[in-house]
Amino acid sequence: MTFPRTRMRRLRRTEALRGMVRENRLHRDDLILPLFVVEGEGVRQPVSSMPGVHRFSVDQVVTECKEVADAGVPSVILFGVPDEKDARGSGADAAGGITQRAIEAIKSQVPDLVVMTDVCLCEYTDHGHCGLIEGDTVSNDSSVARLAATALSHAQAGADIVAPSDMMDGRVAAMRTLLDDHGFEETPILSYAAKFASAYYGPFREAAESTPAFGDRRAYQMDPPNRREALREMRLDLEEGADALMVKPALPYLDILADARREFDVPLAAYHVSGEYAMIHAAAERGWIDGERAMEEALISIKRAGADWILTYAAKDIAGKLA
Ligand code: PBG
Ligand code: ZN
Repeated sequence: MTFPRTRMRRLRRTEALRGMVRENRLHRDDLILPLFVVEGEGVRQPVSSMPGVHRFSVDQVVTECKEVADAGVPSVILFGVPDEKDARGSGADAAGGITQRAIEAIKSQVPDLVVMTDVCLCEYTDHGHCGLIEGDTVSNDSSVARLAATALSHAQAGADIVAPSDMMDGRVAAMRTLLDDHGFEETPILSYAAKFASAYYGPFREAAESTPAFGDRRAYQMDPPNRREALREMRLDLEEGADALMVKPALPYLDILADARREFDVPLAAYHVSGEYAMIHAAAERGWIDGERAMEEALISIKRAGADWILTYAAKDIAGKLA
């Protein structure tokens, strides 16, 4: 029985009716706000390519986290940006390093906020790669050892969840083992499992000072055309002990997210990355789109595709408008 008996418009007639048949809703509990932490005091430095995003010193990031918690956003993910960088990324696992101090300060002053940490070496290495350089490549196995040590140091500083974003093979298993051996068997691992070598990370690299000094990340991050391979990556990370999986970036990879939702029962995160955020703001500044609506539409598409958690730079801004 089709038209004229069936009329899809009947249930779209008013906002109340639309609300009653709405299949997906963004909720504050879905949101995770990425935060950049730099050295110094009283620092609140705008990131030029990401309107509304700042780099904060430890004291300022605490202030920001209080506002984030007051807005009802349950979680943040920290990216430490140290002043000193070297070949092995010594700052990454340094007790008293920038990320470790930020974790301690936030957990002591905003204890209920779930503090996640991005675990990678690229913010800490002078060459900007996510692992250690041997010859002309990023070495997998020696990088894994450094990354596991970094995850442990974050857990020791009080991180609630560690999130490796390096894309080395075997790093989840190495982290799980090292964490367990040191009494952190309760610390979950959110793996950036399907992370693609994307053009959309541009603004982030300005904020995190993590642009590779030579080459690119294609030999470790995934090749954008690959779909089956993303499922393999995610399956492997689950076998290695990941508690939750991430797809990144978000909008260009919603098919991957939908695949993952069908395939796995674990919590799924999607990262609406810096370039995705910047594009919406850039177009809105030119008056070409309604930025607020475009942002909400992007985020609900991520939820609809199957994400439980959405990492977004807009988390604090939109939380006020949500249930
Ligand atoms: C570090 C890392 C990156 C992002 C998150 N963690 C950059 C990269 O891999 O080059 C990107 C986040 C964003 O663009 O918002 N490995
Ligand atoms: Zn990295």
